[in-house]
Formats: sequence, structure tokens, C-alpha cells
Amino acid sequence: EAVQGEQKVAIVGSGLIGQNWAMIFAGAGYNVYLFDVDPSQLSKALVQTKQTLARYQSQGIIRGSGTSDEQAARIHGTSSLPECLEGAFYVQECVPENLDLKKKVFAQMDELASDNMILASSSSCLCASMFAEGLKHKENALVAHPINPPYFVPLVEIVPAPFTRPEVAQKTRLLMEKIGQSPITLQRESLGFALNRIQYACINECWNMYQTGLLSAEDIDKVCHDGLGLRYAFIGPLETMHLNANGITDYCERYAQGAYNVQKETFKPVPVLYDTETAKMIEGEFSKSLPADKLQVRRQWRDGRLAALAKLKREMNDE
Ligand code: NAI
Repeated sequence: EAVQGEQKVAIVGSGLIGQNWAMIFAGAGYNVYLFDVDPSQLSKALVQTKQTLARYQSQGIIRGSGTSDEQAARIHGTSSLPECLEGAFYVQECVPENLDLKKKVFAQMDELASDNMILASSSSCLCASMFAEGLKHKENALVAHPINPPYFVPLVEIVPAPFTRPEVAQKTRLLMEKIGQSPITLQRESLGFALNRIQYACINECWNMYQTGLLSAEDIDKVCHDGLGLRYAFIGPLETMHLNANGITDYCERYAQGAYNVQKETFKPVPVLYDTETAKMIEGEFSKSLPADKLQVRRQWRDGRLAALAKLKREMNDE
């Protein structure tokens, strides 16, 4: 059944992320209006979302309610931004990550927005204070950052600007829960939000171990996908500490000195990733098993694995 009745959501930009949001909202029963400045991209997006939903259905990994055709029928394309926003209670902006473009698109949306319309950006790096400052409706603007591929990786980072009304962040968080995503809320804007800060800490140490010739690139990655990653798919690093001793205080008492020594001995200052020599060496290793022409197939393989894990987690949470 259409869980949310006829409620309308607007998606601005119909690329990779716009299409994912469209499928997620449609699965949750919303009436989705998808807009793009490029008409051929918009037509492609409508075909692709319909085909993708059908494929997910046949693979048993479709989300939400209704058949793939019913879900696809809830996604409407429009080449008019006013038509896209008219009557919507929530807008998810998904145009390319470019500050001037975000400013322009938010200014256009601001002109069309009703007073209660939430204006959320999918931006990965830019904060709402950078592109929504001058808007009439700036109190309704914020970032709701998805993780690729959002259909299977549910985390959404909600990042309000200093001028965002707290209720807007709360409502967005509730909406994300309702559609089956997994929101977190930052208390203030912070470069990198949360996921990328943790991801960069991880990348830095991978870089460090590679640069010092400790491990091959393949073995470094294995540390995550056959080690830490398995754990982290179910419990985070803090709960891991809590469970690996009699609570986190006990963990710190037992292991803090050891952890400190390891870090003091091995950690290096923040590496410069565009240090092309290291990047080229890692690329050299990967190019044997993953040359450029095999990347797309490997991405599909990754999405399939993530889909299976997402399904497993959903089933386990249902128990
Ligand atoms: P994309 O390049 O696949 O899609 C962008 C779409 O916006 C294109 O279809 C383009 O025609 C359209 N567009 C350009 N100017 C427009 C305008 N003025 N009005 C309406 N549509 C316009 O980009 P993608 O990857 O979907 O990224 C969108 C946003 O999501 C970016 O801010 C990105 O940082 C963020 N994001 C991307 C992730 C990723 O892994 N690709 C992950 C999380 C967030």
C-alpha cells in the first residue's frame, strides 16, 4: 500500500544520486517529481529507475511496498522546476558538487518554495551555510548527505547550518527513518561531516602502511573487508570497545596505554594524497586485477554484495 498517501517529494537533478533518492522515496510510497536541466538525462533517468527497480525485484532486493512497476509509476519526470516543487513538502537537491551551481539552484528553489518546504542538499562536502545564507527560506535549508549507493547503504548525515530551524533537522531525521534510511544529526557544521572524517583517518593509516612497505595494497584492504569491516557492519568502534572488556571504562583502563603507544610509534602527520608516486604504485597493483575496463563490472559486483548485506541486516532487525 502507498504508506505515505499522496505526499509529494521533489528531486532536483536526476543523476546517480537523484535516481537513488527517487527509488527510495517511491518505494516508501511517496509521489516523486524528478527534475533535470538536461531533458535527455531526465528521460534516461526515468528509464533507468524503472529498469533498476525491475531488476531489484527479480533479484529479491527491492525495498518498500508495491511491485517495481507500481513503484516506478510513482516517479514522474518534469522539465519544469516550478512543476517539480509545486505542492512538495520536501526537496532533495542532487546537482553536481559545485558551489556556484548549488548557490544558483538554491536561489531558484527559494523563489518557488512554500514557507514549510524543506530544502535539503545531497552535498558531500559543501555546507548549507555556504550556499543558502542569502535565501528567504534559509531556515528550511540543510544538508542531508547520502552514502553511495544510498539504496543499499542507509546512512544519511543531516547537517544543519547555524540558521537552520531545529525542527527542520528533526523533521528531516524522522523522514529519513520513515523511508528506511538511517540518519545521524551533526550538532553543527563540520568539514567532512562524520563519515569522511572516519574514512580519511582510515585512508591515512592505509597510506602510511603502504608507504612504509609494511603490506601490499591487497593485504591492507583485506584488513577491512575480512576484519574490521565485518565487525563494523553490525557494531561501531565505540561499542566494540564496550563489548571487548567489561564496559568502555574497563577497556580504556586495560588498553589505553597500548593504544597510545601504537599510535605514538606508528602514526604519521596527515599524508598528502596527491603524492602521485604512492597513488601510482597502488594503482599499479590494482591495475593487474582491476584494469580500467573492469571497473564498471566490479562496481556492479560491489552493489550486489552491499544489497545482500543490506537485506540480511533488514531481515535480522525484523526478528
Ligand atoms: P551526477 O553528475 O550523476 O548528477 C547530477 C545531475 O544534475 C545531472 O543529471 C545533471 O544534468 C543535473 N543538473 C546539472 N545542473 C542542474 C541544474 N541547474 N538543475 C537541475 N539539475 C541539474 O552527480 P551525482 O553523483 O548524482 O551527485 C549529486 C550530488 O550528490 C552532489 O552534490 C554529490 O556531491 C552528492 N553525492 C554524491 C555521491 C556519489 O557517490 N556520487 C554520494 C553522496 C552525495
